[in-house]
Amino acid sequence: MDKIRIKGGIPLKGKVVLSGAKNAALPIMSAALLTDGWSTLSNLPTLRDIQTEKKLLSFLGASFEEKPEATLRINSSKIDRFEAPYDLVKTMRASILVLGPLVARFGRAKVSLPGGCAIGARPINLHLSGLELMGARIDLKHGYVEAKAKKLKGAEIVFDIPTHTGTENLMMAACLAKGKTIIGNAAKEPEVVDLANFLTAMGANIEGAGTDIITIQGVAHLHPADYRIMPDRIEAATYMVAAGITGGEITLDGYDGSCLETVVVKLREAGLEFSQKKKDLTVHGPRKIKSVSLTTQPYPGFPTDMQAQFMALMSLGQETSVIKETIFENRFMHVSELRRMGANIQVSGNQAVVKGVSRLLGAPVMATDLRASASLVLAGLAADGITEISRVYHLDRGYEGLEKKLLPLGARIERIKESA
Ligand code: EPU
Repeated sequence: MDKIRIKGGIPLKGKVVLSGAKNAALPIMSAALLTDGWSTLSNLPTLRDIQTEKKLLSFLGASFEEKPEATLRINSSKIDRFEAPYDLVKTMRASILVLGPLVARFGRAKVSLPGGCAIGARPINLHLSGLELMGARIDLKHGYVEAKAKKLKGAEIVFDIPTHTGTENLMMAACLAKGKTIIGNAAKEPEVVDLANFLTAMGANIEGAGTDIITIQGVAHLHPADYRIMPDRIEAATYMVAAGITGGEITLDGYDGSCLETVVVKLREAGLEFSQKKKDLTVHGPRKIKSVSLTTQPYPGFPTDMQAQFMALMSLGQETSVIKETIFENRFMHVSELRRMGANIQVSGNQAVVKGVSRLLGAPVMATDLRASASLVLAGLAADGITEISRVYHLDRGYEGLEKKLLPLGARIERIKESA
């Protein structure tokens, strides 16, 4: 297993090209199951999760053609299995996104129950009750969920909580259902909108994606489509924090900061400055980081996927910040590792009180999940001395070529084999 070694303390400077968004690419690849023929997806990030998704789709019978420049063609004409097996689902929860498309097109699906993970229990009850309302029969047996329906029918669904992948699963299912589906209290994340745009390009009839209420009028067939995946806003925000925490200056190539309004407001409060030149956004790190409090919220609130990285920044704040996590019940696994680097953070329930320290010290630390790993990289970039982060496979799930992108910015970062 690889480790990442960072010698910190260097202000990062330069330009970064963002990759396509993982959390848009995964549902969009699953949506290719809804039709015959070749769909072409461009700006697909090179990530472990994308490899896992490909494995899953090819297990189901899909075929692929790799094209240059992050482009992949997918053909789902010969789907002959309807099951997402345990081995794949346990490595990537987003495998659940094949459930809606499979039931909608083939009338059946069997998907391993994802179970809990490093950030929380993460049930899928809302995906399942939505499908039941659409007429699917749901059975939970031997760790699997089995869904069957001759033909899904439109339904009125109101989520208790706005679930991101739940909204995506039901939106995909509703595209081929008979009649109209209304999803109330829907997730408004930009990746949901990206998926809706792809589905629309496939011939779906969807209104309201990006708002609380999404209305889908089912159609008899969808057709393949060509689509460019949106840029990864969480990757963008992570590089913004990298500029802030190192007191550097990073330009996000061709990115205008869209979909990150709340994060930018908080980073500005922390002292970061932003300047836009044509299509490039430059982030200027402050000399001193101001402490800022925040609460994670569904979009357009502050994203839970940036909480750990922001906490790394706040660990060097001048005063005290209070960070409240309201989306996942166990998303503070990075705290104990940041503390090993000298951060002063106390957790009580879903709240972390971060008293800024004047410096962090490099240490060996362990990555526990994707965004926690990113926060440790950021802390390592700012810390005095050497930080070694193990279990970096978490990072590889969601950040394309992180050290390759950081090196030209001046970071002293290398990947080493754990056995070396
Ligand atoms: N929830 C339920 N029942 C459900 C579904 C969700 O109670 O049936 C709860 C969850 O336990 C959680 C809340 O609702 O407390 C919100 O969870 P949501 O369903 O929105 O999360 P998700 O769809 O499983 C996606 C992203 C996550 C991101 C969250 C929140 C993908 C593939 N994953 O997860 O991304 O943190 O939305 O924005 O899109 C990551 O990229 O690191 C990551 C974890």
